[in-house]
Amino acid sequence: MPYRICFVCLGNICRSPMAAIVMRGLVAEAGLDVEVDSAGTGSWHVGGPADRSALSALTRGGYDGSQHVARQFRPSDFARYDLVVGLDRANVRDLRRLAPSPEAAAAVRLLRDYAGVPDLDVPDPYGGPDVEFDDALALVVEACRGLLASLPTTVR
Ligand code: 4NP
Repeated sequence: MPYRICFVCLGNICRSPMAAIVMRGLVAEAGLDVEVDSAGTGSWHVGGPADRSALSALTRGGYDGSQHVARQFRPSDFARYDLVVGLDRANVRDLRRLAPSPEAAAAVRLLRDYAGVPDLDVPDPYGGPDVEFDDALALVVEACRGLLASLPTTVR
């Protein structure tokens, strides 16, 4: 069984797709049996592609986001993942509210905690200038490296 991670933001078109794509690259490079998905707490963009500015930022960073299809996180998803990672504190709060059990709520983490800077958001770049997307991607890369290093030893 692979270890399963789901990154969750609000729309699933900017930050969590970035995190999933970056993390997939890291686990592939490390040769780990880890499956990585993403989802949004909101339903506005379900079935659609990643945001155009997010795709451009990914391209500038050397990543390909063209295969992304947005979906909404459901309470039943908690059973599918070992780890559910919110991109900001509102995502974490919303996820814990959705959680069907205390154990599920306990599987929710905040992404930047893995970068050693507790309780900080990856700010929402939606509708903002390119630099905000580049900044979000840089925060995501840093935190995903920390997350990789903190995976359980059974996975590494
Ligand atoms: P994301 O950005 O949560 O990083 O995907 C957003 C995308 C869309 C919306 C909000 C945030 N929206 O309100 O449609």
